[in-house]
Amino acid sequence: MLIFPIVTERLELAPLSAADRDAFVAYRRDPDVARWQGWSPGYSVADADALLSGQPATVEPGSGRWLQVGVRRAGILVGDVAVHALADQPDTYEVGVTLAPAAQGSGYATEALSALVDGLFAGGAHRVFAITDARNEPVARLFDRLGFRHEGRNVDADWFKGEWTSIDTWARLRS
Ligand SMILES: CC(C)(COP(=O)(O)OP(=O)(O)OC[C@H]1O[C@@H](n2cnc3c(N)ncnc32)[C@H](O)[C@@H]1OP(=O)(O)O)[C@@H](O)C(=O)NCCC(=O)NCCS
Repeated sequence: MLIFPIVTERLELAPLSAADRDAFVAYRRDPDVARWQGWSPGYSVADADALLSGQPATVEPGSGRWLQVGVRRAGILVGDVAVHALADQPDTYEVGVTLAPAAQGSGYATEALSALVDGLFAGGAHRVFAITDARNEPVARLFDRLGFRHEGRNVDADWFKGEWTSIDTWARLRS
């Protein structure tokens, strides 16, 4: 179980709340951010309200649910990390990450995900993984830097935004 807030050298991580809505919508609408994610630049305030009001309070192992965790620098939302507790495998978590464009290139994603992943393993996780678009070079550098193993690439396996897309799996094991 993750205990929030998680405080790092420069950042504070805690579940997103309604107060984060406008900043969250702003970076989700950025085409360079939306390109790699499951939403589009048309992401709306109503979309955010639905997500934020429906999310769990914490990460329950095996719940099958995602928790969106805000990443804040000096009280300002700079992005989020997301954790999915798989329902069909014990102690297994998928993670994702998004930074506002202005906050990229400063190591915040590395710092935030590193703390989140450490928290998951400290809480008994067996495996933490991420699935990424094979064309997304910054995210590949990120997971490599975090010590995730590149487990494989499924070639042209995902029909995503109107084209066949190759997807990479990255993972770290507790062991
Ligand atoms: C994926 C994403 C979060 C990566 O962001 P990022 O800013 O490249 O990653 P970090 O915040 O860890 O920053 C690392 C970069 O900052 C540089 N950096 C500068 N100062 C740094 C510091 N103090 N510490 C560490 N890195 C630093 C690093 O050299 C690195 O740059 P490089 O990759 O060109 O070598 C970002 O590209 C993003 O939000 N993309 C859109 C959404 C997305 O694709 N999400 C992934 C889907 S799972």
